[in-house]
Amino acid sequence: MEIKQVTPFSKDLQGKIDFLSKRRTEINLGSVSFASPLLLAPMSNICAFPFRLLMEELGCGGTVSELISCHGINYGNEKTLRMLSIHPDEKNIGIQLFGESAESMALAAKVALESRPKFIDINMGCPVRKVVTKGSGSALLKDTSKLGHFFKTIKDAIDIPLTIKIRTGWDDDQINCKEVIHIAKEEGVEFVAIHGRTRTQQYKGRANWELLEQVAKESPLPIIGNGDLHSASIVKKRMSNSNCDAFMLARGPLRDPFIFLESYKEDDDKISFTPSDYWEITRRLFEYNKMYTDRERTILIMMRKHIIWFAAGLSNAGQFRNTIFKCPELEDTMKITEDYFLSLSSANKKINEDEAFMTSGHG
Ligand SMILES: Cc1cc2nc3c(=O)[nH]c(=O)nc-3n(C[C@H](O)[C@H](O)[C@H](O)COP(=O)(O)O)c2cc1C
Repeated sequence: MEIKQVTPFSKDLQGKIDFLSKRRTEINLGSVSFASPLLLAPMSNICAFPFRLLMEELGCGGTVSELISCHGINYGNEKTLRMLSIHPDEKNIGIQLFGESAESMALAAKVALESRPKFIDINMGCPVRKVVTKGSGSALLKDTSKLGHFFKTIKDAIDIPLTIKIRTGWDDDQINCKEVIHIAKEEGVEFVAIHGRTRTQQYKGRANWELLEQVAKESPLPIIGNGDLHSASIVKKRMSNSNCDAFMLARGPLRDPFIFLESYKEDDDKISFTPSDYWEITRRLFEYNKMYTDRERTILIMMRKHIIWFAAGLSNAGQFRNTIFKCPELEDTMKITEDYFLSLSSANKKINEDEAFMTSGHG
């Protein structure tokens, strides 16, 4: 199963990627440079190197790993340590850690440095009960008196930038992101990504962009705005008029893997992505997954979900989804997928953005 080289993209697809990627403008957030202000947000069980690297190739300016347990790292848990792996071609990647103890986080951060990320990010947004009851994730927002020590201990342990990803606060009565940003600034944190919801909100309602804009306007640190940037048109609109220094996209790229490139398009560009482009990037993701693990079952589960998300909104996607779910073999799954994508006459998607999609996650 081992694979070292990937199938090159066709000239047509590579041409579109190169053309649109040239429109990217590099940015610095604190001392961290990115190829563009449009970044891939961390997502558990999704943002291992195969998807991250594919998204970098498809125009995103930088990525962050899924949240990784500091205790799992410190115990030497094999699965956790694999999550730290970074592909040599990844350029702008941060590793996100979670934990409640400053000392355990500092120890784990030192181990994470061995993978050579550009920065270490702290998860301060995870709303999941199992994480929060132990005092990590968004629970860190509850008692700000401990944060100075928390940041300092981790920062002192590493020689690369430290960053944080937070929510706006715990609940509507405790919107304290501004205070957290100020403490972070004091302790030398480089930038802050904010998911514009409170912990209590989980994934309900809308991200509060009014608040994000106001916070970004006054912030002493660069701010990455995050939440509900689910289509290229929404991203473009937000980018054209925002106080935020950069933006993170999580769920959008799952259903529209070309969302970053589409966001660099100008009105008179004739470029569009085709069903065959969908097949090529799916095959690329499959090949990266084969590099990541030799466990067929893991690859099958991973590919199934990406294939179904990629197909969302395309013709006959429902029927295709049922066929994929029933297929027990990896190679057959890929063949069915190739046949499906190549049978389509267009890759125009019909997605109802108001329908709930992935309403739970770790940040
Ligand atoms: C499946 C899933 C997993 C997530 N895992 C993480 C994570 O590991 N770390 C994190 O900081 N945020 C995580 N998040 C939160 C996202 O990074 C992002 O803040 C949130 O989804 C809002 O952005 P979006 O509207 O673009 O999806 C996750 C979200 C989803 C949907």
